[in-house]
Amino acid sequence: MRPIPSSVLDKRLVFVTGKGGVGKSTVAAALGMAGARAGRRTIVVELAYQDRLARAFGVEDSHFREAQVGSDSLFTISLDPQHALEEYLRMQLRVKPLADLLFSSRMFQYLAVATPGLAEMVTMGKVWELSQTRRRVRGAEPYDLVVVDAPATGHGVGFMRTPKTFAEVARVGPIAAQGRTIHATVVDRRFTGVVAVALPEEMPVNETVLLRDELRRALRIGLDRVVVNGLYPERFGPRHRAALARALEGTDDPVERAALRAALSEHARARGQREQVVRLEEALGMEAVRLPFMFEPQLGPAQFEALSRDLEAGL
Ligand SMILES: Nc1ncnc2c1ncn2[C@@H]1O[C@H](COP(=O)(O)OP(=O)(O)O)[C@@H](O)[C@H]1O
Ligand SMILES: [Mg+2]
Repeated sequence: MRPIPSSVLDKRLVFVTGKGGVGKSTVAAALGMAGARAGRRTIVVELAYQDRLARAFGVEDSHFREAQVGSDSLFTISLDPQHALEEYLRMQLRVKPLADLLFSSRMFQYLAVATPGLAEMVTMGKVWELSQTRRRVRGAEPYDLVVVDAPATGHGVGFMRTPKTFAEVARVGPIAAQGRTIHATVVDRRFTGVVAVALPEEMPVNETVLLRDELRRALRIGLDRVVVNGLYPERFGPRHRAALARALEGTDDPVERAALRAALSEHARARGQREQVVRLEEALGMEAVRLPFMFEPQLGPAQFEALSRDLEAGL
């Protein structure tokens, strides 16, 4: 049997998980860029039409379309469940009137309400299709690496477990068989990896430990890597810090005091962040990949590039 790859870039399918707002989409984009740079034909999959990567690279439209961004080997697609179901049915049915009926958005709404988890299941089905060496979509080329920006709701474990849930509920028939096939791919450590993103703060660290536990419980798999995003630089050593504190005591000038206070408070924050990283590393028993906070109003290609280099060095 093939050994389990030591780098997530050597897997075919990587889920980037974590609570909303921690930088999941940013890390997924940076991971995709690192994959493309390493020579893998890579696609970053976004859910629910975020179009984030496309916008950052000035590509107009990646709505259910594999759009090339930046380099020859980097692509992105934004998935939505209705298109995913439509494509699935077109491939399965090949009966036009029935297919047309099912594609109407009212019918989709009806089906989605009647079938809890359907949206997640067809989305996972499309993710699986993108990761296959033999693509089901006619004329589509295979990818070496598929990076999935997991949904913003929860931490993404429920989404990853959907195929198993469907297989259990359906038990027999084509849906159950497809659920089992996709589930087997998700839990295959040679094929699939999971990267958790956390912020260096108390609650996000706790949530990441819970995410690890939930992955174990629901899917019996572990985390491949943990990325801590948004670390402030440690600008001052102990000597500088003492000098800043002395200077603060020695001045009455309000502007000087404000600047010195700001410097000391940023230092305290950077230190607190590092304590949280250590706490996370101890709880998970693995080293975290550290990404800096970028002091830019908006992250563009240059910032993604810098983050992807840092990420690559830590993978
Ligand atoms: N390392 C970073 N430095 C500066 N800003 C960041 C960094 N990572 C993410 N951001 C910004 O924080 C916000 C949330 O990031 P995003 O990747 O969208 O999080 P998520 O997908 O987890 O909700 C975005 O505005 C993003 O540009
Ligand atoms: Mg996001």
